[in-house]
Amino acid sequence: MPITVRPLSHALGAEIQGVDLARSLSNAEFDQIHRTFLEKGILLFRDQKITREQHIAFSRRFGELDRHDSLPRDRHPDHPELLLVTNVPEEGGKESASKYTGQQWHSDMSFTLEPSLGSLLRGIAIPPVGGDTMFTNMYLAYDTLSDGMKKMIEPLYAIHTGRRKVTDPNTAREREQTRINPPIAQPIVRVHPETGRKALYIGEKVSCLVDMTPEESKPLIDYLVKHATRPQFCYRHQWKQDDIILWDNRCTMHIALGDYADGETRHLERTTVKGTPSGYYLQ
Ligand code: SIN
Repeated sequence: MPITVRPLSHALGAEIQGVDLARSLSNAEFDQIHRTFLEKGILLFRDQKITREQHIAFSRRFGELDRHDSLPRDRHPDHPELLLVTNVPEEGGKESASKYTGQQWHSDMSFTLEPSLGSLLRGIAIPPVGGDTMFTNMYLAYDTLSDGMKKMIEPLYAIHTGRRKVTDPNTAREREQTRINPPIAQPIVRVHPETGRKALYIGEKVSCLVDMTPEESKPLIDYLVKHATRPQFCYRHQWKQDDIILWDNRCTMHIALGDYADGETRHLERTTVKGTPSGYYLQ
């Protein structure tokens, strides 16, 4: 069956049809998928009844996989290449450590020195209503800034942390997160290593700009995030079981909306493909 490509929104994304990720793809098939990935920023594969091993094997076609040493509590106990994004309580009924994962606009692993190239998230249990994920196109976000703003932000670096919105920063978990992942400075504008295009690189976990106070930084960070997440730059994904979404972390941001009822199960598993070195430690 030939591969077909269906756009998901005006701004970004495509559904790839005619592919069974349970079998290994030919180089020609993979090349077509890879080209579409670079062009569209996110790819959706529906009805993929695959095993964890097959999820990992397909992900490896895009590059070396992260073993999630910077997020040890969320990784799968038997497969370090898989990150759990789940609200299923831990043994003993404790709230899942990853219940609130991704509920801020971000690009994966921006708080590390090897921010991710791309992520592949597999929907295993999806609430009957909601639990959506939104994506935005950071090339468009950059391209639509004025020349004056582009010039002003070009030399700026922002401080990225792994902190989450919903949890208390003073919990043992958050302190441990900061110990494992000290704050990192990343450029606000990055050149995509494969397409050569410039993309905005910012997010809601960005706390401050380098060499500026938080008060000075906040209006600019807030403006850039608001600009980047204008509805016309976005795609909103309504998950179905057995969906796999692959996104390019170098030119997109995403957010888990958390728009589902308490008591519904949402369980997804993610592989994270390592990217090229970027940024520096502040201390
Ligand atoms: C993530 O940020 O990797 C998770 C996104 C989601 O759960 O929708």
